Amino acid sequence: MSEDLHFLSGSKEEQYRSLLPQIQSLIEGEEDLIANLANVAAALKEAFDFFWVGFYLVNQDELVLGPFQGPVACTRIRKGRGVCGVAWESAATQLVPDVDAFPGHIACSSRSRSEIVIPLFKDGVIWGVLDVDSDQLNSFDEIDQVYLEHLTTYL
Ligand code: SME
Repeated sequence: MSEDLHFLSGSKEEQYRSLLPQIQSLIEGEEDLIANLANVAAALKEAFDFFWVGFYLVNQDELVLGPFQGPVACTRIRKGRGVCGVAWESAATQLVPDVDAFPGHIACSSRSRSEIVIPLFKDGVIWGVLDVDSDQLNSFDEIDQVYLEHLTTYL
């Protein structure tokens, strides 16, 4: 199969509606988790030109950096720390319109201005998070939440 993705230039919702089935077919049939996480990060980065897209994976009592696209990032995050650690501890998506207003935000890059973090569930247990950062304020809303949460069900 071709690995080329096709990107629409419509509304954000139209872009997600076009992209998600392509991501689903890109990763279905491949059982290697790291390969699939790497392709999901690449697809989201290319489609939306987000500043940073990546995964942190639960390893004992920490999140450890997994496949990502963007500048180098912090490698380990404790439960309850930063946006990622709060998403893990609370088992809830974190929508952060202004990272400077989020107590304890971990600034891997000073250019990150807004962020969304989605916990990844398997059989009710969190095994990681999807973290998407923007270099602009207020980049994420309920549309991103709905479609990115849906995307994580493919993993
Ligand atoms: N800002 C995140 C840390 C990860 S980086 O953004 C890639 C946080 O506060 O958890």
